[in-house]
Amino acid sequence: MAFSLIRQELAIDLGTANTVIFQNDKIVLDEPSIVAIDNKSGKMVAVGKYAQMMDEKTNPNIYTVRPLRDGVIADFNAAEMMITGFIKMVNGNRTHLFTPSLKMVVGISKGSTPVEVRAVRDSCEHAGAHDLFLIHEPMASAIGIGLDVEAPKGNMVVDIGGGTTEIAVISLGGIVESESVRTAGNEITRDIQEYMAVQHNIRTGFKTAERIKFHVGSVLTELPADEEPVPIVIHGKNIVTSHPAETEITYQEIALCIDKSIAKIESSILHVLEKTPPELYSDIVENGIWLAGGGSLLRGIAQRFTDRVNIQFHVAEDPLKAVARGTCTALKNTDNCAYLMR
Ligand SMILES: Nc1ncnc2c1ncn2[C@@H]1O[C@H](COP(=O)(O)OP(=O)(O)OP(=O)(O)O)[C@@H](O)[C@H]1O
Ligand SMILES: [Mg+2]
Repeated sequence: MAFSLIRQELAIDLGTANTVIFQNDKIVLDEPSIVAIDNKSGKMVAVGKYAQMMDEKTNPNIYTVRPLRDGVIADFNAAEMMITGFIKMVNGNRTHLFTPSLKMVVGISKGSTPVEVRAVRDSCEHAGAHDLFLIHEPMASAIGIGLDVEAPKGNMVVDIGGGTTEIAVISLGGIVESESVRTAGNEITRDIQEYMAVQHNIRTGFKTAERIKFHVGSVLTELPADEEPVPIVIHGKNIVTSHPAETEITYQEIALCIDKSIAKIESSILHVLEKTPPELYSDIVENGIWLAGGGSLLRGIAQRFTDRVNIQFHVAEDPLKAVARGTCTALKNTDNCAYLMR
């Protein structure tokens, strides 16, 4: 009993935009993947939501870092600090008398190179993981959605995250075809920043552009009347005069300015379908394609993809948690999961 008290099991979705952690089947952490670091000491001063509040508002003594870029660790030290900080948060910032024996399942991008996988492994081990398993994110999201990934049946998922869109066809507990593309939520936000500058002469920060996306983000220029969001009023700085500026943004404008990025995701989906063997393809046509990740919350996305691809798309319930939920299920089956990697 005394031993089990110091054993801890965590399932982690280490995302470019958000980190979600499950423990004992419950979400114990849901925070933006960002740290704030003191420039002189190199020590972490904040992590998650507090660090995000500081983002784009720092002075030269502090800088903020998002340790992941395009779905993979880009800043190893910051990643380690962030993971350690999150585990501390999960433990209520208490320090244990004995370091708990930590078992972890962590999601990784299917497009990760061996060096990038190594970076996740090393950061988790430095943060205290003793028994570490990795799982490809599209596999985790399929499990999290509740698809029967072990069946001899084609399942297809499209996870539009912050840094990457992961597209995969799964059968018999393995990924048959996949693509991991760097067009996802962050690129869509950058499209909005660029549009604001070019069309409205207003310079917007990343956070304001994200707010625009959440409020009036749409991939269709015509939404059903009951789904139409009211335009959002944005206050910013005129690029030319530096005077305060105010403008209203409609969902139709956003649909047009992010169209190119959405089209890139569409062509990758078609590319994966093109490579999919015919028997699995037929299953996918029958079951539809599942959307997960924060990008699937853009208004009209299932409709637009269904129209372009001619296969029904469904948005997962609680799409931002699909990967974490799947890693949580995998954590309970580490002894007999074909899709887990040591
Ligand atoms: N309501 C919304 N409308 C549009 N986009 C949204 C919405 N909510 C979240 N997003 C976007 O979803 C993205 C984050 O999604 P998610 O948490 O699935 O990504 P992640 O797992 O951190 O990233 P990745 O999987 O690429 O490493 C962000 O780009 C965010 O702006
Ligand atoms: Mg993700």
